[in-house]
Amino acid sequence: MVQALNAEVLYDRLAENYHILTGDGSWEDTVREHGQKIHRLLVDELSIEPPADILDCSCGIGLQSIGLALAGYQVTGSDISAKSIERAAQDARRMGVNIRCAVADFMELEHVIEGDYDVVLSWGNGIAYVSTIDDLYKAFCSMRSKLRDGGRLLVSTRDYEALASSAQPHTPPLVHRDGATEYIYFQLWDWSADKTSYAQKICFLRRPADGTGDWSLETFDSTMRAFVKPEIETALTRAGFDDVRWCTPEWKTLGMLAFSARYSHDRVTNHGI
Ligand SMILES: C[S@@+](CC[C@H](N)C(=O)[O-])C[C@H]1O[C@@H](n2cnc3c(N)ncnc32)[C@H](O)[C@@H]1O
Repeated sequence: MVQALNAEVLYDRLAENYHILTGDGSWEDTVREHGQKIHRLLVDELSIEPPADILDCSCGIGLQSIGLALAGYQVTGSDISAKSIERAAQDARRMGVNIRCAVADFMELEHVIEGDYDVVLSWGNGIAYVSTIDDLYKAFCSMRSKLRDGGRLLVSTRDYEALASSAQPHTPPLVHRDGATEYIYFQLWDWSADKTSYAQKICFLRRPADGTGDWSLETFDSTMRAFVKPEIETALTRAGFDDVRWCTPEWKTLGMLAFSARYSHDRVTNHGI
């Protein structure tokens, strides 16, 4: 029986090679592109501009945190994986920007992360590591606790309505050359009977880039919860958010759907949420 890894263990193990999951461009260019894309989304769709304060609460090795800091935002990047946070801090320094970094579970931000923010960001499917609808509600309450009145939550997730209906069995392979090593990266997905979750196997094939030697395989197993729009909207409303907006497909990065929601202090206090 395969051992599913929790997010902390999985991303500690992936931290060194995580950039391979994002395709064959240089990591620095990918970071800049992501930062610019989310910057445009913030400005054009939500009227939020630099130097707004952003808490990126599942920042991983800093793909969005560093990109947004380069675009002029004040960024705090947090993640449950200490090894990812270590790499985010190093890469930010190397790329010449300052981000505050913290190890934190996004289920418990209130007492761990200091200050409050204009935007709380969770980009790149971090919420699929939450296993129940009730825990999704708790995660949104935790994220809400770090927002100023009128601040916005901004999240991206895989489009699970589409993926579950076709029970998609794997992601397309990505080829990556990293120095002397060539990688092929893909994920295998084994769906539950009710299609609300799947066993995810992240697979890396690697061999010397000069084509000599055999491919070797490394895998990482985890369980993903495939939340769909109505579940997300119910959890957001219950957690005290309003003005839920699903972003148009042009804002997709890494093939994901994005949504944002507003925290209104009045609504929360008047409704006793
Ligand atoms: C697919 S990665 C995305 C990372 C980054 N945002 C990106 O797009 O490259 C998902 C991230 O969510 C983080 N994560 C999962 N559950 C978490 C939790 N409860 N609290 C904080 N981070 C969590 C993982 O450690 C991982 O870094």
